[in-house]
Amino acid sequence: MKAIESLKAANREEERLLGEIDPNRLPQHVAVIMDGNGRWAQRRRLPRIAGHRAGVKAARELIETCARMKRINALTLYAFSVENWRRPKTEVDFLMRLLREYLRKELPVIHKNNIRLLVIGRPDQLPAAVSEDIERAMRTTAGNTGMKLVVALNYGARAELVDAFNRILEHIRHNGATQMPVDEQTISENLYTAGLPDPDLLIRTSGEMRVSNFLLWQIAYAEIYVTETLWPDFNRARFFEALIDFQKRERRYGGLSAAAPTEEESKHRAHPSHSQLHHA
Ligand code: FPP
Repeated sequence: MKAIESLKAANREEERLLGEIDPNRLPQHVAVIMDGNGRWAQRRRLPRIAGHRAGVKAARELIETCARMKRINALTLYAFSVENWRRPKTEVDFLMRLLREYLRKELPVIHKNNIRLLVIGRPDQLPAAVSEDIERAMRTTAGNTGMKLVVALNYGARAELVDAFNRILEHIRHNGATQMPVDEQTISENLYTAGLPDPDLLIRTSGEMRVSNFLLWQIAYAEIYVTETLWPDFNRARFFEALIDFQKRERRYGGLSAAAPTEEESKHRAHPSHSQLHHA
């Protein structure tokens, strides 16, 4: 399969970088901590919200690029964390509005491109209008078989683990079991991301060396790529650089050989028996 044949380079730089990418060794799942919108705006003496608007453009471009790279079958974007409520109300309101605007404008495009939208996080604190738009978008794209676009919204990895443990306990209580051995698979299957392969590549923009409570369980073996580029400037060329860097790494999964897992092994790692994600 020629994984990137539907991607056309827009300029010389993209062409050169594309030529360095091995289409058979692309990550299956890319996760991104989109950071630096505020600093991008500040450097231009613009209000922070201008940075978020520019951030949406960058997200849109990355979604399209990943969807065209057929082998990438999941892209997870950290759009709003459980900690982000600490920002000024005007900024939080703006981010929520922006998300609704994005969904309204882009849903037809997402759907037409066979992308399935999934949202992970705690839905309860989200404004009702946002939840309704998300529900609609997830319903509309539920049957799509192409790339999964996973938006982490009101998401925190510790909260996800707490929710998973409570679900497991609830299950034990419900079944009247007095004890039940919990293994890694049980935990994976009760995370919001049940059914998704773990990310192979975690990208963080704007230079901070932190994982910020993002997918803590799932990134156990992910390659981490941190770039100084601020999120709104993270264009296709910068993404190709991340992929090239990823392909230079020797992934050992704790072992000694450089052998990548076979398709069967990565399936096993993903515990895909539960294919339904939690709705957020
Ligand atoms: C970080 O910038 C970004 C966010 C808080 C998330 C918002 C993301 C977007 C608007 C991108 C669009 C996403 C989708 C799914 C359409 P920051 O404000 O933390 O920047 P700073 O660290 O420079 O202040």
